[in-house]
Formats: sequence, structure tokens, C-alpha cells
Amino acid sequence: MCFFLNFIHFRPYFYQMSQQNLLTWYHQNKRDLPWRSTRDPYKIWLSEIILQQTRVEQGLNYFLKFVDEFPTVKILAEASQEQILKLWQGLGYYSRARNMHQTAKIIHFDLDGKFPENSSDLQKLKGIGPYTAAAIASFAFNEAAAVLDGNVFRVLSRIFDENTPINSHSGKKLFSNLAQDFLNPLYPALHNQAIMELGALVCKPQNPDCPNCPLQTICLAYQRKTYKNLPVKEKKLKVKSRYLYYMYFEYNGKTLIRKRVSGDIWEGLYDLPCIDSDSLIDEIVIFERISELALNQSKIEKIYALKHQLTHRTLFAEFFKIELNQEILAIQDSFWVDLALLKSFPASRLFEKFQQSINLHHS
Ligand code: ADE
Ligand code: SF4
Repeated sequence: MCFFLNFIHFRPYFYQMSQQNLLTWYHQNKRDLPWRSTRDPYKIWLSEIILQQTRVEQGLNYFLKFVDEFPTVKILAEASQEQILKLWQGLGYYSRARNMHQTAKIIHFDLDGKFPENSSDLQKLKGIGPYTAAAIASFAFNEAAAVLDGNVFRVLSRIFDENTPINSHSGKKLFSNLAQDFLNPLYPALHNQAIMELGALVCKPQNPDCPNCPLQTICLAYQRKTYKNLPVKEKKLKVKSRYLYYMYFEYNGKTLIRKRVSGDIWEGLYDLPCIDSDSLIDEIVIFERISELALNQSKIEKIYALKHQLTHRTLFAEFFKIELNQEILAIQDSFWVDLALLKSFPASRLFEKFQQSINLHHS
């Protein structure tokens, strides 16, 4: 607590000292990259679009080819789409190249060849998001706009020992505030380059070189030895589909229900016997399988179908009504109940919807 208060109290001092250390480190250690020795917004924009697509070593060649063939935004705007795509070849994600062409045309034909000079106007252009806008605005116009890319996320998460997931909504907001707070207002361009370079050369994803880091004295993750687990990323689970073919047996005012077993969705809730699959099953196959179970059925018909969204599953449920003329043996885990008692069993929202649908049929 005490440390925390002190930290807040001395924050400006900590910041100034470490920002200065960061700039000194940058001057001594930076890589000599061509887009760093220009303040031409066109070349900076070009380099950032290319570097979103590839690593610095490969991006360098593309950058030099582009600057050589299209030295100004005018020449890029007047080029054909084929020429640009040809030069972009191998980078992938060709919509980036097309957006680039479109934006070049707008700057050349509508904006008198001049790039907007602040990050919010830059963001109105196609293909320029918050990161690229801050990069151009700071590098070309020295606007105090903090860049936030993968390198910066990593460095900040470690300096502040901040484990909010960087790809969550709240994380993006939090880290963009941290980046802006930590920005050196006197040298925004140099600071932005420096923090990205630190992420690339020292505060690497694996085995950061903490002993040689200019921010070591303020780095909370270094003090607490938590840097290996930072930054935190939220796992975006793939939403899978699941197909449920429910059997609604009816005999003498009763139906077969089953209690759902553990280790699956809706554990402990009740619904109907079910054929369960990760892929779509042909309706003819379902009819065959049901016929095997219910030898004495008089009639099978599909009476209800719905799509139901769970967090990590899309359920496609179909309900088949089987009118029996004789009671069959219960299917595994299932038992006969009076239809009137059906709604007294705890049920999933999906099964509840089905019950509502058959009540409608009956009324
Ligand atoms: N990656 C993205 N932008 C960069 C820049 N300006 N310098 C080095 N690496 C980068
Ligand atoms: Fe990254 Fe280590 Fe520097 Fe902290 S001290 S910013 S973990 S390199």
C-alpha cells in the first residue's frame, strides 16, 4: 500500500528518469532503418503499412522497392492497381495494397497531395487505424500520440505488471491510457520509436534481456519475476457446431425424459433422449436410427427445430415426435414421466423453448 502510494506520488519523477534512460538507450542501440531518417509522412505511412504485414528484415526490401518505384504519393496514386499488386506480391493480404492505392488517390486528388497532420484526421483514411495514425502523426509531425503495437503492449504490461488481457475490450482501453501516460511529451517521435525498439531488441517475448534494460529500475514485472507470464492474452475459443436430434416419444400421455450426465453441457438438467453429433446427420439416417429404437412406432415426424447459441457452441436442435402404440423399454438414462409433469423438471433454455412449442401445438 505504502509502496503504491509512493509510486503514484513519485510517478512523474519515475517517468522522467526512465523516459530519459529509454532515449539514451535508443540512441546507443537503435537499428539504422531508412524510414527512421525521414519525416516524409508518405514514406512513414508506406513503411508502417508494409511492417504490419511482415518482419523488419523482409519489410526493408519491400520498402526500398516501393520507394524506388513510387517515390511520392502522387506517383503511387497515378499507378495502376496491377503495378502496385505486383510489387506487393508475396506479402499477402492484398486488400491492404488496394486500400493503400485508394488512400493515395484520396490524398493526391482530394487533399491536394497533403497528408492530414493529426492522428484523428489520419484515421479517417482507409487502412489507417489508431496505431498507424499515431505512428505517422508522431514520426512526421511530432504529435504527442502514443503508438500501441504488439511490442508496446508487451513492454507496458511488464513495466506495470498488468495482467489484464491485451486483446480484451477493457485491456485495449487500459493499455492505450498507459501508453499515453508513459509517452514522453517532449520527444513523442523518439519515445515511440524507442519503446517499439526496446520491445523488439530487449523486452522480447521469450527471455527478455532485463540486465541490459534501461527500464529495469521501474519495471514491476522484473521486481516480481512475473515477466514470463506477460502479456496476458485472452484465448478466443473457436465456436463449434453441435447437432442434437431429440426424440420426443409419446405413449399414453407419457414421454421419455433423461437426466443429463456430468462432463457435458447442462449437467443435471433434464431433456429428452438424443442423438448427438459434431456434424450434420442426414434426416433419413435419423429416421432409420429412431426406427431401430422404437420398433412399434406408428408415426415419426419432425415437429420443431431451432438454432441455439451458447458461448462456445452453436447448437442445431431438431425434435422428432414418435407416437408409439406400445410402451418401449427405456433408453439409457431415461425414464417415463407424465406429460403434465414435464415442466416440473429443471430444464435448459433450449428444452424450455421446445416445451413452449408443444404447448402451443396442444392449445
Ligand atoms: N514495426 C512497425 N513500425 C516500426 C518502425 N517504425 N520501426 C521498427 N519496427 C517497426
Ligand atoms: Fe522487459 Fe525486463 Fe525491461 Fe521489464 S526489465 S521492461 S521485463 S526487459
